[in-house]
Amino acid sequence: MVNIKAVRESNSRLKSEPSGMVALFVGATSGIGKGSIMQFAKYANAPKVYIVGRSKTAATALLNELDRLNPQGTFVFIETEISLIKNADDVCDQIAAQERKLDLAFLSPGFLSGAGRQETSEGIDAFCALSYYVRLRLIYKLIPLLSASPNPRVISILAGGDEHAIDVDDLEVRKGYSLRKAVYTCTTQTTLAFEELAKSSPSIAFCHVHPGFVATEIVNKFAHTAKGMWTLPAMLARWTLIPLLPLFGRSIENAGEWSVFVATSAKYPPAKPKEKVVGVSLPKGTTIATSTVVADGQGNGVYRLDNYGETVKNERDTILENYRANQVGKKIWEETISVWERATRAS
Ligand SMILES: NC(=O)c1ccc[n+]([C@@H]2O[C@H](COP(=O)([O-])OP(=O)(O)OC[C@H]3O[C@@H](n4cnc5c(N)ncnc54)[C@H](OP(=O)(O)O)[C@@H]3O)[C@@H](O)[C@H]2O)c1
Repeated sequence: MVNIKAVRESNSRLKSEPSGMVALFVGATSGIGKGSIMQFAKYANAPKVYIVGRSKTAATALLNELDRLNPQGTFVFIETEISLIKNADDVCDQIAAQERKLDLAFLSPGFLSGAGRQETSEGIDAFCALSYYVRLRLIYKLIPLLSASPNPRVISILAGGDEHAIDVDDLEVRKGYSLRKAVYTCTTQTTLAFEELAKSSPSIAFCHVHPGFVATEIVNKFAHTAKGMWTLPAMLARWTLIPLLPLFGRSIENAGEWSVFVATSAKYPPAKPKEKVVGVSLPKGTTIATSTVVADGQGNGVYRLDNYGETVKNERDTILENYRANQVGKKIWEETISVWERATRAS
């Protein structure tokens, strides 16, 4: 297993990699995304970074800090409500108008809510929109730019390795909605959709990461959404347990170190790398991560990773194997496209 010292050493070698990495961060205005973009700014060699968020004003301090961390870097804020597919399309158009390649798409927007199903104006559950539909739309629309990179990588921070048996006839979580059902559905769809994308884009590496427990504001924000009988317990938790969470969780700075490692190490090659070694060469004693599907010794370039950047192997593998045997990934992909089409017609 790679340790944090090796991770930092690998990240520090980024400065001697070719300059001018182009990256997109969505969800980096707080939490894991913020920790990741700050570490990326610290280590990368004159990068150009697009940051998508809801409020440029709220991001002023972050943008100033990024400029301070990397005066040679360029940080471009795109202000938009990114839970909408049409806005994701606009973001992709803006980037495509400016760039000839994209090296990294780092996606971590999301929230937890106890308020039940809440639809965006495009008719998608808002949790699923941010955790899955918008993230996949961004990746899909950016494939031409990603494919032009010598080492393209996509990272979705959600819950890789925690896939579950889901209701494949209710992928939009319209029946018996619960947060748990929505989380499991988005998580399982992410891994299987990545596998579908990797078939047609084998030069791109796809990493679905479970970040472990990171001390962000997500739990506190969740407690504010409690309704009915949960209102009082949530309020008590906010005063008692929640302030103690930073003692148990990983810091966003530490999570960010691992994110930069996953984003740049040669440990995570795509199925068909453009060069012999893509990324920062492996730390001593480390091996290449195992892809979700390996056939004839060849990995598919999709990774389910834990909070130490290691491939997850667990009882969920059997669920995924069954889904692969029954073409569930293809069904997920076709339904994802039809949800996007419906959403763009609605907007
Ligand atoms: N923290 C953990 O321990 C943990 C564990 C497992 C998985 N995860 C997953 O990791 C991801 C990131 O979590 P986090 O802890 O970093 O959360 P966080 O600190 O709350 O950050 C969430 C990000 O998503 C954005 N966002 C939230 N709601 C939005 C909306 N309606 N429209 C547009 N943007 C919105 C936020 O933007 P604003 O700044 O504008 O609010 C922020 O940039 C989530 O998918 C979460 O489920 C987290």
